[in-house]
Amino acid sequence: MALLALQRGLTGDRALAGSGYMDDPDYLAAYLEYYRAVSMAQVGRIVDLSGIAPRSVLDLGAGPGSVSLELLGRGVRRFFLVDSSRAALDAATASIRESAGRLGVQVDIETRVADLESPDAIPEGRRFDLAAFGHCLNEIGKGDDRFSRRRDVVDRAARALAPGGSVMLLEPATLAASRDALALRDALVSDGWRVEAPCTLCGLCPALAAGPNHTCHDEAAWEVPTGVRRLAEAAGLDRELIKMTWYVVSASSRRVSASLDHVSASSNHGPTASGDFGEGYYRVVSAPMLNKGGRVRYLLCGPSGRFPFSARQDDAAARSAGFFELGRYDLITVDKPERRENGWGFGPGTRLRRLPPGAERG
Ligand SMILES: C[S@@+](CC[C@H](N)C(=O)[O-])C[C@H]1O[C@@H](n2cnc3c(N)ncnc32)[C@H](O)[C@@H]1O
Repeated sequence: MALLALQRGLTGDRALAGSGYMDDPDYLAAYLEYYRAVSMAQVGRIVDLSGIAPRSVLDLGAGPGSVSLELLGRGVRRFFLVDSSRAALDAATASIRESAGRLGVQVDIETRVADLESPDAIPEGRRFDLAAFGHCLNEIGKGDDRFSRRRDVVDRAARALAPGGSVMLLEPATLAASRDALALRDALVSDGWRVEAPCTLCGLCPALAAGPNHTCHDEAAWEVPTGVRRLAEAAGLDRELIKMTWYVVSASSRRVSASLDHVSASSNHGPTASGDFGEGYYRVVSAPMLNKGGRVRYLLCGPSGRFPFSARQDDAAARSAGFFELGRYDLITVDKPERRENGWGFGPGTRLRRLPPGAERG
C-alpha cells in the first residue's frame, strides 16, 4: 500500500526523504488522499494559535498545495508555490483554482519547479507576507551540514518577505525532526530573529538543552475527515491526534527581548535561584501528568524557561480556576504561584488566567 510505504519512507527509515517521491503517481495519490488533509489541519491550527493573517504566501516545498489550500480559506489570494515535482505543483494549482471557484474569489497563482537549495527557487522582485515551509526542510540534508543547508534556504526565503512578513516552519513531531527544527529555531534566534509564536520565550529553547530525549511539539485532537479515517484504519495508522513541531519567526532587526544567555542550565529545571520567576505569559507545553504524590503537573514555558506547575489533584481552588482543564499550548498568566523546589505550585493565593491565542502580542 502506497500510504504505508510513504509513511515509512518519510517518518520511519526516511528512505524517501528528498528522493523525488512526489513524481511517483502512487505516492502523489496517497499524499493527496491522506497527508494533505493532515497538513491542512496543522496549518489551520498554526494560524489560529499564532494569529498570522497573510494575504500572500511563498509556499516552499509546496507539494500538492496543502499549506496554500488552507491559507486560501483564511484570506490568502496571491500564491507562489515551489517544489521539485511538477506533478505535485499541477495538482496543487488545480485544487487551489477549484477551491477559489467554490469560494467565489480571484486568486493569483504562480508555480516554479526548483530545488529549494538553488538560488532560483526564490522569485526575484516579489514580496510575500509569509514564507511557509510545510514538512519539507527536514528533507534537506542528512549529515551534519543539514543545519547550515536548511538555514541557508530559510535565509534566502526571508529576503522575499514584505516588511513585517514572517516565516512559518511546520515539521513532523518525531524526536529527530522536532529537535532539528528547534536547533534551527535556536540558530535563527541567535542571529536576532524573533519568535512570534508559539514560544513566549525568545531565548534559546529549554527543551533542547534538557537532554537528547527532550523536545517540544504540539499534539491536538482534530475532526478526522471520513476519507482519512478510513485510510488510517485500513493501514493501521493512528490519526486521532495531529502532531507537529512548528513556529513562526520574523527576521526582525529588533533584538529579542530575552537575552540569549537568559536560559541558563539552571532555568531548565525551574525558575532561577534568585527567585526571579519573570513576568508575563506562559505556554503550557505538555499534557497533564499525574505523579505518585497525587499532584497533577504541567510543563510551562515562559520568560524563565521551562518548568513544572502543579496542583494537588483534589485542590478545589485549582479546580475552580480551571487548572485541570488546561491543555497543551494554552497561554496563561499566573499570579502569586506557590514556589516549590522545582517550579510552581497552585497555592492558596494563586490566580490563573487562560488567555486567547495571540494575547502575548497585545
Ligand atoms: C512532505 S511533502 C510536504 C508537502 C506540503 N508542503 C505539506 O505540508 O503537506 C515535502 C515536499 O517537499 C518537496 N521537496 C523536498 N525537498 C525538496 C527540495 N530540495 N527542493 C524542492 N522541493 C523539495 C517534495 O517534493 C515534497 O513535495
